[in-house]
Amino acid sequence: MQKTTINSILKRKNKNPIICLTAYSKVIAQIIDKYCDIILVGDSVGMVLYGMKSTKEVKIETMIIHAKTVKEATKKSLVVVDMPYKTYTSKFTAYKNAKLLLKLTKCDAIKLEGGKNIVKIIKYLTKKGIPVMGHIGLLPQTSTNFKVKGRNEKEKKKILEDAKVISNAGVFAIIIECVVEDLAKKITKTVNVPTIGIGASKYCDGQILVTDDILGLSDLSPKFVRKYVNLKKIIEKSVKNYSNDVKTKSFPYLKNIYK
Ligand code: KIV
Repeated sequence: MQKTTINSILKRKNKNPIICLTAYSKVIAQIIDKYCDIILVGDSVGMVLYGMKSTKEVKIETMIIHAKTVKEATKKSLVVVDMPYKTYTSKFTAYKNAKLLLKLTKCDAIKLEGGKNIVKIIKYLTKKGIPVMGHIGLLPQTSTNFKVKGRNEKEKKKILEDAKVISNAGVFAIIIECVVEDLAKKITKTVNVPTIGIGASKYCDGQILVTDDILGLSDLSPKFVRKYVNLKKIIEKSVKNYSNDVKTKSFPYLKNIYK
């Protein structure tokens, strides 16, 4: 078993696609580790597990609990943890919080949302030896509208520029969220670090999705998600069966009791 490293991710530029998923718990991390190169402990945890309205509400303490559990359960994949909203308002707060996150969780890298606006922060963190993954395009922590990005020339230019500057600032990979295909293709051709798409076409160097979305455990189903199973339905059926068994006293059965 070859452990994924920052260097091995960098070498995957223009090679076989980088496989990434999110995890927030031990059991999911254990299952997906074998098939992933990168596991992201995303701040989507706030909406997916806690029913928050946006990722803005997620606190660093929540990220620490989930990231520590995921990292402990992961043997092979690189584990990246999201820095939550308002935890990287300056290079100094970013460094203090990133150091804390990595120290307490033992994760391999942190992820920050933004482009030109956070370039100084990325430069500072990478200079201090903190591996940083970038995130451009649709930015859930700050976006006011959750629409596809790069539909007009002005937006395209801005997002391409964001990709260039954060790549030059030292990120080891860039998540591109919800942008039009030709822009994702252009970014991937332009920057020298791997791009990882979520709703950003097959022209990225890798793909990421929220695990709960592909398992049918969340209510969200944007166009870019492929749902592989409807676990909600399966769970409901199992719970219904259990409920009937208890009602009819067919549970517990002989093999479930102690003598
Ligand atoms: O928080 C998250 O899960 C993410 C992915 C959607 C990329 O940032």
